[in-house]
Amino acid sequence: MSNSSAPKRSIVTGAASGIGYAIAERLIADGGSVVAFDLDSGGLDDAAKQLGDNYIAQPGSVTDANDIQAAVARAESDLGGLDSLFNVAGAIRPGPITDLDGETWDFTVDIVLRGVFLCTKYAAQSMIRAGNGGSIVVVSSVNAHIPLYGGSAYAAGKAGADMFAKNAALELGRHGIRVNSVLPGLVDTPMAGFILENEGIMAEFDANAVLKRPAKPSELAAPAVFLASGDASYITGSSLVVDGGYEIGSYPDLSKYL
Ligand SMILES: NC(=O)c1ccc[n+]([C@@H]2O[C@H](COP(=O)([O-])OP(=O)(O)OC[C@H]3O[C@@H](n4cnc5c(N)ncnc54)[C@H](O)[C@@H]3O)[C@@H](O)[C@H]2O)c1
Repeated sequence: MSNSSAPKRSIVTGAASGIGYAIAERLIADGGSVVAFDLDSGGLDDAAKQLGDNYIAQPGSVTDANDIQAAVARAESDLGGLDSLFNVAGAIRPGPITDLDGETWDFTVDIVLRGVFLCTKYAAQSMIRAGNGGSIVVVSSVNAHIPLYGGSAYAAGKAGADMFAKNAALELGRHGIRVNSVLPGLVDTPMAGFILENEGIMAEFDANAVLKRPAKPSELAAPAVFLASGDASYITGSSLVVDGGYEIGSYPDLSKYL
């Protein structure tokens, strides 16, 4: 179903793959245009062939303030402004805490937390200059709530990003800018490949996941675009868990004993 109140001029980080690609695809299907910002320039070019002229490839890193400012400038010049930002880019370098070195920690936290701050900063400056309000969505993770063995930097960064979204909602609401976060569970994307391809991990996943399957990327795109759209005009500072019931399924299954 299309959403006529979806934002028309957006920046999507991580738009070459997975959830970011699905969000860009959904925004374009809803009549919008997207500055697709990603490190993977080959992936951006491939996606542009699929999604057409309203997908504007802008290579760069969310860890680099100059790259981000260039993406915001591209939205202003090519789209005439910016209605929404989707902070989706993510990566993880796992390792148990006792073996983890500072650089490996920084790699993950720089992308999933500092990158969200920098992108939000420059996008919000542009929205405030234009004076029309806007909306920002942060793609966090259920690992903001549930720790992940070997993923301390990722889980702490995602929890930080979730709280950052609330802080940004508090500061930016006076400018008519809403900020919300989405917390996916397991999603069928390249990033989750090592989990999806491992039978042992998937058996444990199925034991807890109420819906017994990973999400398709489009099942994250729909709620993310909803939060950025006019249909969510009174929602700000909220965190939406989109995990197929994974988080609520972790208690022992008492149905066998009652
Ligand atoms: N797949 C899952 O199960 C899952 C679950 C919870 C949260 N998430 C989160 O969803 C978001 C999207 O992940 P995905 O599953 O679609 O993965 P993905 O690997 O398919 O896509 C991530 C994209 O981010 C880009 N990227 C990485 N570092 C970047 C940087 N420094 N600057 C710009 N772009 C960069 C990659 O090139 C890639 O295109 C991530 O933030 C991830 O942590 C994913």
